Amino acid sequence: MTNGEAILEFRGVTKSFGGRAPAVRGFTLSVPRGQLVVLIGPSGCGKTTTLRMVNRLIEPTAGAIWIEGRDCKTYNPVELRRRLGYVIQRIGLMPHLTIADNISFVLRFMGQPPAARRARAAELLEMVGLAPEEYLDRFPAELSGGQQQRIGVLRALAHDPDIILMDEPFGALDPLMREQLQEEFKRLLRTVSKTIVFVTHDMDEALLMADVIVLMKDGQIVQVAPPEDMLRNPADEFVASFIGRHRVLRQASEVSVADVMIASPAMTGAANGLARSLELMRRRRVNSLLVHDQEGRFEGVVRQADLQQHIEDGDQSPVGSLADRAVEALSPSDSGLTAMHRLLEHQRADSLPVLDENHRIVGLVTRGTLVGLLGDALRVASGVQDLNVADPTLPAPASGEMAP
Ligand SMILES: Nc1ncnc2c1ncn2[C@@H]1O[C@H](COP(=O)(O)OP(=O)(O)O)[C@@H](O)[C@H]1O
Ligand SMILES: [Mg+2]
Repeated sequence: MTNGEAILEFRGVTKSFGGRAPAVRGFTLSVPRGQLVVLIGPSGCGKTTTLRMVNRLIEPTAGAIWIEGRDCKTYNPVELRRRLGYVIQRIGLMPHLTIADNISFVLRFMGQPPAARRARAAELLEMVGLAPEEYLDRFPAELSGGQQQRIGVLRALAHDPDIILMDEPFGALDPLMREQLQEEFKRLLRTVSKTIVFVTHDMDEALLMADVIVLMKDGQIVQVAPPEDMLRNPADEFVASFIGRHRVLRQASEVSVADVMIASPAMTGAANGLARSLELMRRRRVNSLLVHDQEGRFEGVVRQADLQQHIEDGDQSPVGSLADRAVEALSPSDSGLTAMHRLLEHQRADSLPVLDENHRIVGLVTRGTLVGLLGDALRVASGVQDLNVADPTLPAPASGEMAP
């Protein structure tokens, strides 16, 4: 990590917009080739300003930025943009252009013929698992927010720049979509080796993505460190509290399903009658039951509305015949974060069974459980250790109890 290897160097960069304190002050940083550097800090600390000085959307008041051993002032703007890719939060796709044309937008200005541009767009789409034949000719409005943001990233990669600047690229997405794109982007980065300057205000994102984190406050750098080092040795109180406040999801990922699940969910044997199962539901005040076979193995889920309907229809079959088997299950060792993902993916399910390796029911995770988990993560983040989240609304039956 010597200066010699640096592809991007900030040398005492200051930017002042006028009378007040400068937006960026004496910013000095050396970015080695191939690294992903995350600039993080509270809103208004100067992250975007720093990034925009690299591609010369704005000019520093003092100091200089060097790219590949040359002051970026010596590049003409077109030459400079070719070396840089830029991704912003407001995706910025052009609504009247197809996905193919959006992705290859810069290539057009570089004089590439249409067929080559289309081929490049197809190649990039494949890298993020979007079928080219399906997406090349669509328009941005026909894509989900997450898909649009993927296109925004691909567009920055299309001309194969050395350095990619990303300003809160996933900031407009909901947390789960964001996480999916973060993972995907990390995977993508392993195949294309790029130097990335990535701006975020989300410490979870920084911890996930960064080789090096640059924490800023009031236009200045407070600490530069790899994630592990920053967590272990925060430079000061500001860093410590900034890490703490943003660690909720991280905590959720460190808690296991076994820690938070309801260990005695309402269940019914597959051979039980419908009316009996419905009564069980009423008494447990739940609107679904896990159905198990004689060995306690998961047979499916039965829902109150279905039971009622079939009882009214005079159906005499056992409850097992109504069990919905198309339900995803969790394992006790899954993380709380995984549980959240699965529940949100499955809009239909209010809860997911937790099964052991023999497919036996060992617990249940509900949306309510996860609210408890997040509350817990918040308490842990603020220093209170209390991981007991047994569900107080459910009676604790004798161990191993199942409806006969
Ligand atoms: N074009 C501008 N004119 C005047 N002030 C600006 C301009 N751009 C940013 N600022 C100010 O500079 C500071 C840093 O802004 P910015 O770099 O956007 O912060 P961040 O991206 O970290 O939220 C803020 O106080 C902001 O109001
Ligand atoms: Mg910003």
